[in-house]
Amino acid sequence: MAPANVRAAQAQAPSADRRLSTLVGHLLPSSPRRAAADTSATSTLESFPTMASQGSSVFAALEQAPEDPILGVTVAYNKDPSPVKVNLGVGAYRTEEGKPLVLNVVRRAEQMLINNPSRVKEYLPITGLAEFNKLSAKLIFGADSPAIQENRVATVQCLSGTGSLRVGGEFLARHYHERTIYIPQPTWGNHPKVFTLSGLNVRSYRYYDPATCSLHFEGLLEDLGSAPSGSIVLLHACAHNPTGVDPTIEQWEQIRQLMRSKSLLPFFDSAYQGFASGSLDKDAQSVRMFVADGGELLMAQSYAKNMGLYGERVGALSIVCKSADVAVRVESQLKLVIRPMYSNPPLHGASIVATILRDSEMFNEWTLELKAMADRIINMRQQLFNALKSRARWHSVSLITCRNPW
Ligand SMILES: Cc1ncc(COP(=O)(O)O)c(C=O)c1O
Repeated sequence: MAPANVRAAQAQAPSADRRLSTLVGHLLPSSPRRAAADTSATSTLESFPTMASQGSSVFAALEQAPEDPILGVTVAYNKDPSPVKVNLGVGAYRTEEGKPLVLNVVRRAEQMLINNPSRVKEYLPITGLAEFNKLSAKLIFGADSPAIQENRVATVQCLSGTGSLRVGGEFLARHYHERTIYIPQPTWGNHPKVFTLSGLNVRSYRYYDPATCSLHFEGLLEDLGSAPSGSIVLLHACAHNPTGVDPTIEQWEQIRQLMRSKSLLPFFDSAYQGFASGSLDKDAQSVRMFVADGGELLMAQSYAKNMGLYGERVGALSIVCKSADVAVRVESQLKLVIRPMYSNPPLHGASIVATILRDSEMFNEWTLELKAMADRIINMRQQLFNALKSRARWHSVSLITCRNPW
């Protein structure tokens, strides 16, 4: 082992390198990377920021990236020794004891899968488990959906809701004529990053009015009304994150009419089907209104929350098309997006979902467990609201006048 003074010097080397390269960056008229581009190939190599001086890391000049604003809360929470800590970061269901919950029906499905000796671990196709895709489309669009009956839906299994949004975003960036997506203000913190990295331009539309703690409906209609024709619009199917404020059915109808009249393309994000009201069908109503008019749309579905399959990363992207023939070609292009990204999706989570959705008895058990989770969330929120209200002082009046979110 190296002597202590050498080890100390080695430990300091990365930050010394960092300081040096920052200073060089300030003193030179152009950045080292750009200056290097003007000179010979050898000096290009020498000036490249990840080029190591002997013994130090090739990544020594790398800056510490900030934690993800949402997942970073969990990191801070895990580090915090406080006995009264509460994690209000990532939206994951907890039991009365504050523990993660695995649904009983999920445990049963997993047991059935384990007990089945004919199951193998082969790769899934690029588009995922075919039965899972069919059942997922049925779950969100409804068993009697005309789009499903007419084979106008292309569904691919993706890595939960995030992966579905990412694949959908990249598909649109490659194949859709309009590259701007309007997202609600505010929205889930990952939306702008996912769509920007997909290759889309992200703009926002007014959604929430902090003054009234409710939907900024006029602002929403105005902003979507002035969006260029053909723009993509991200809509939270239900349980809008982070506000908990959803349009009423009448307001959805107005949004639908406006969007269809301007040929705005809906991209639904359904991360909480069943969580808002306790009913899978009720929470899919907004989406089904748009499918019923025969128009096209994208749908990103997640089973993270409603089946508690967070870490299994199971979700689906569906694209509802005008005809079966277009849907076939859309699917073929989705495969070209997916193949170089992660090749094909994981088997386990999709098998759990398919096991539950295909069996009416297990499906019913799931709806009961889902309803129990939704009811408890609604009840806890009410209790928190009441507790805040009863303890509020005059300066918290704005808080208590706010309506209780879902
Ligand atoms: C609105 C919204 N969309 C998508 C997601 C993605 O979730 P996941 O990728 O875990 O399915 C979340 C997660 O919190 C969300 O709140």
